[in-house]
Amino acid sequence: MAVNAAERDAMVRALHLAARGPRGANPQVGAVILSPEGRVLAEGWHQGAGTPHAEVDALSKLDPLEARGATAVVTLEPCNHTGRTGPCAVALIEAGIARVVYALDDPGAVSGGGADRLRASGVDVESGEQAEAAHAVIDGWLTAQRLGRPHVTVKWAQSLDGRAAADDGSSMWITGPEARADVHRRRAEADAIAVGTGTVLADDPSLTARDGDALLPHQPIPVVIGARVTPDDAAVRRHPHTPLFFDTHDLHAILADLHSRGVQSLFVEGGPTLASAFLAAGFADRILAYVAPVLLGGRRLALTDIGVGSLTEARRLTIDEWVPLGGDLLAIAHPVEETDPQHEGAA
Ligand SMILES: NC(=O)c1ccc[n+]([C@@H]2O[C@H](COP(=O)([O-])OP(=O)(O)OC[C@H]3O[C@@H](n4cnc5c(N)ncnc54)[C@H](OP(=O)(O)O)[C@@H]3O)[C@@H](O)[C@H]2O)c1
Repeated sequence: MAVNAAERDAMVRALHLAARGPRGANPQVGAVILSPEGRVLAEGWHQGAGTPHAEVDALSKLDPLEARGATAVVTLEPCNHTGRTGPCAVALIEAGIARVVYALDDPGAVSGGGADRLRASGVDVESGEQAEAAHAVIDGWLTAQRLGRPHVTVKWAQSLDGRAAADDGSSMWITGPEARADVHRRRAEADAIAVGTGTVLADDPSLTARDGDALLPHQPIPVVIGARVTPDDAAVRRHPHTPLFFDTHDLHAILADLHSRGVQSLFVEGGPTLASAFLAAGFADRILAYVAPVLLGGRRLALTDIGVGSLTEARRLTIDEWVPLGGDLLAIAHPVEETDPQHEGAA
C-alpha cells in the first residue's frame, strides 16, 4: 500500500523529533504512531544509549490496547536485536501495530532485519519514505558505522612553501582572519578535536570553537595525544568539556576508544607529527590545507614522514573544492581510492 499524506506528514514530524536526540554511539531516531484514520496518537524519539528506542518511547505513551491496528512511522528500520533494550520489531508486533512506514534500512549486521521480522508476523511494511532527509539527520552516525571509527579530518595551515611554522616554532598566525574563522566554524561541526602534545606545549591552544571571543553553541571534545604531560595551567584544561588525554601513539586504539564514546567525527589540528601519523596510518578521510601567501623557509614542514619513500608511493588526492578565504586558499581534498578513475593516468 502506497504511503499516504498523513504518513508523509508524520515522517516529517518524526525526522524533526529524531534531531532532538543527542548525537552519539546510537543513531538519532524519531517515531510517530498514527491511528488507522491518520490521527497522531503518540510521538517518541531516542534520547541516547541505554534509553528506550523511538518506537518504544512512543508506545509507552499509549494505553496497552490503544496501538492495535495503528501505523508506526519511524525514521530508521525498527531494530531486531536485544541490546540494552529489547527488539523494537517485537515491541511493535506485541502492541498490535498493523503497519510500519520507515525511512532508512538499519545498516547494523546485528540490529538489522527488523522489517523482515515484522513482515513475517503479518505487519504491512513500507521502506524508503523520505530516505534522503533521514540520511542527512544521521549522516555522521552512518559514516562512523561504515568506517567502524570516527570520520577523520586532518587540517593544517601552511605557508606557500609548505611550512607549518617559522624556524623558531611560531605559527600564530600563518593565515588571515577569514581562514581562521572558517576553521572555527568547522571545529564546531566536529564531535572532537585532537592535537599532539607538541602543539599543546608550543602553542597552548584552547581547542574551543569561537566566533571572535564568543564560544559557538557546539564545542568539540578536546583530545590531547602523546606521552608528555599537559601543564596544569594549559588553556585546554579550561575547555567547556573535560579534555581526553591519550598517553599513547596508537591511533587505532584511540579511534576505537573515541568511537565507543559516541564520537562520530574527529578534527585533527596538528601539529605536523600527529597529522603525518594520521596520514601514514590511512586514517585521514578528508584533508583541509589552508595555504597562505607567505614564505617561511626553514625546517618546519607542514608534514613529516607519511610513509612515502618514492613517487610511486605518493598519496594522491582528489580535490573536492578550492575555497578562497581572504588572501588565503583552502584546499578540501580526500585520498584517491585505488579504484578511483581520476587516479588512472596520474603522472
Ligand atoms: N600550521 C599549523 O597548522 C600548525 C598546527 C599545529 C601546530 N603547529 C606547529 O607545529 C609545531 C609542533 O609540531 P609537533 O609536530 O611537535 O606537534 P604535534 O604533532 O602536535 O606533537 C607531536 C608529538 O605528539 C606525540 N604523538 C602523539 N601521537 C603520535 C604518533 N602517532 N606518532 C608520533 N608522535 C605522536 C609525540 O609526543 P610525546 O613524546 O609526548 O608522545 C610527538 O612528539 C609548533 O611549532 C606549532 O606551532 C602548526
